[in-house]
Amino acid sequence: MRIEQNYSLAEHNTFHLPVKTRWFMEYATEEELGRILRDEYFQECFSLHIGGGSNLLFINDFNGIVLHSCIKGITCVRETDSEVFLRVGAAEVWDEVVDYAVERGWGGIENLSLIPGETGAAAVQNIGAYGVEIKDVIESVEAYNQLTFEKRVFSREECAYGYRDSFFKDEQHDPYIVTYVTLRLAKQPAYVLTYGQLRARLGDEPVTLSRVRKAVIAIRKEKLPDPAVLGNAGSFFKNPVISTAQYEELKRRYPEMPAYVLSEQEVKVPAGWLIEACGFKGKQHGPVGVYEKQALVLVNLGDATGHEIALVAESIRAAVDDRFGIELMPEVKYVS
Ligand code: EPU
Repeated sequence: MRIEQNYSLAEHNTFHLPVKTRWFMEYATEEELGRILRDEYFQECFSLHIGGGSNLLFINDFNGIVLHSCIKGITCVRETDSEVFLRVGAAEVWDEVVDYAVERGWGGIENLSLIPGETGAAAVQNIGAYGVEIKDVIESVEAYNQLTFEKRVFSREECAYGYRDSFFKDEQHDPYIVTYVTLRLAKQPAYVLTYGQLRARLGDEPVTLSRVRKAVIAIRKEKLPDPAVLGNAGSFFKNPVISTAQYEELKRRYPEMPAYVLSEQEVKVPAGWLIEACGFKGKQHGPVGVYEKQALVLVNLGDATGHEIALVAESIRAAVDDRFGIELMPEVKYVS
């Protein structure tokens, strides 16, 4: 176990905000986690569990305990003629898990290549890209109840997955800490090539797992800034879901407004389009930028604070609401 006091989180958040936490605790096993959770001082403090910090916006220093898992390991726990079940430690870097699966010819997560962050957080957040979400391959999730210290194995259904949403994000339940995630991968991959740009990038060559992975990586590198170079947390807002009636009405005023049909009643509108239409794309607001190739991404141009990023996000939210009557909700988690 590692315990640090007044510890900088600059390397633990992809906006690279130089905030500090009063305490930082890292555990390597479920037993160590159990000891931390049972500690009376821990129970009295505010606590925040982080993964790779790729979806966090720290507004201030954190006056509590930041917990981080070091539980690693990728183990094949079961195999059938058509599937493999991989049990992955929460601290495994997600893209390394994708690489591991692709190398072995196991399909299901290749479209989720190059998404920053760690596996536990990926399962909490239900990461998604290019027509695939991690929920599609989740077999089960092992987690500890932070209040009762009991371990529970959640089936995929019990995880209650939705768009960037899960049981673990719902604050009405007891808080849980994910320790392992079991993925169900296919030996005969069923490729998901519904995203036009991915299909186009693959061209006429035969589709293989590694070609899909390479194509996804190339598309992401073109559109999204590398957090190691330019601080960012990927999409800052979720794509809003609106009623078909509201969309029809907006479409009369903005005929070029794109949308993905979800059902007869609902469509999802790309937030990047709405933000670009409000004139924010590529603009700088002091040390905060709206990325020039993807308006949904806010970037730290150097020495931005979380507060400054939040102010830009608020002016974007207000402008989109004024113009379209659509409320953007942040995808990143604000921590204050
Ligand atoms: N668009 C614009 N202007 C922009 C950006 C986007 O007009 O500046 C419009 C275009 O019409 C474009 C459409 O939005 O065709 C969709 O853009 P893109 O394919 O870049 O995807 P997205 O909807 O902006 C979502 C996810 C991404 C994921 C991609 C690919 C959310 C909030 N974001 O973005 O996930 O990589 O689809 O599947 O759902 C993340 O969650 O951090 C993330 C990067």
